Amino acid sequence: MYALMQRWCLTIAVIGCAPVAALADDWGMGASNSKIPPSGVFDAVSTPAHEINTVAFFVISITAVIFLIVAGLLVYSIVRFRVRPGDDGREPPQVYGSNPIEFAWTTVPVLIVLVLTLVTIRTIYTVQARARPPGALSVHVIAHQWWWEFRYPGFGIVTANELHVPLSDPKSPTPTFLDLESADVAHSFWVPRLAGKTDVIPNKKNSMWIDPHVAGTYLGNCAEFCGTEHGMMLLRVIVEPRADFDRWVSAQKEPPAMDASAVHGRQVFESTACVNCHTIRGTQADGRFGPDLTHLMTRETIGAGVAMNTRDHLKIWVNDPSIMKPGALMPAMNLGDKDLDDLVAYLATLR
Ligand code: CUA
Repeated sequence: MYALMQRWCLTIAVIGCAPVAALADDWGMGASNSKIPPSGVFDAVSTPAHEINTVAFFVISITAVIFLIVAGLLVYSIVRFRVRPGDDGREPPQVYGSNPIEFAWTTVPVLIVLVLTLVTIRTIYTVQARARPPGALSVHVIAHQWWWEFRYPGFGIVTANELHVPLSDPKSPTPTFLDLESADVAHSFWVPRLAGKTDVIPNKKNSMWIDPHVAGTYLGNCAEFCGTEHGMMLLRVIVEPRADFDRWVSAQKEPPAMDASAVHGRQVFESTACVNCHTIRGTQADGRFGPDLTHLMTRETIGAGVAMNTRDHLKIWVNDPSIMKPGALMPAMNLGDKDLDDLVAYLATLR
């Protein structure tokens, strides 16, 4: 009997683990993301997120006090005035029409609502009405199913899914202003430690700003259901000291180095449908439907945070993106082994 039970348990365990094992390959993302501090809303490192936190705590504290008073009186009344043997069944004294009591319970809530309204208006004003100072960085964010395009109009550079911005010293702030638009459906841009959510809507330009006070990488995601891969529309904001940011900008402005060993891979790239959707500066490829690949290898992730950007992962992705991201709009390229290897070797030179 014991042996039989043991076998059942083993069978159940194997059946239970099989799908988990199949799903377990996170393409290196778990290990990478675990090195980034959790993206909690309570640990704000940028003024808009901090302002929203402050007003949220203020409202929660006031409403918590109201809740404790109301719930306390309710519990007290239930216990103190419950039916007891020998009650005479008469109603308690009625206070209808008492001017002082009615005045008190009208005035106090009105004052509380007034205070909450004024504090909220002040926060909305601080977060939304901030003027663009002369030295501010502007980035054009375009949401796509299911990735993020970042265009820096001042520098003429374009990247995807990983937004680089300079650190902002609170003493002399250098905020980054984002203008957000969607190329297809409604999305929402959210990096919890930097700012609140901003809807990203087709044919409408929304804007927001961030001024991160602490260097580092911050995780974000799309916060509006936008189709199959809504959950895999991740983004990273990389906040760097100004000198590092400037170095990143000058490297991005450069055309990609031409590696003589990758000539055949480049020919494969230029002779397939890749060029209709992707741009690589210095080649014929100037598509706008998919991410700009000019400096692909300077990005840590591919597929909007679905996999770490390694050569092996690129090969799987180019061969058939739906293995990593079912529903991805990029088609499987169905190349022969040699062409696929050479194409990936070429992509790996795009630094
Ligand atoms: Cu884009 Cu959800």
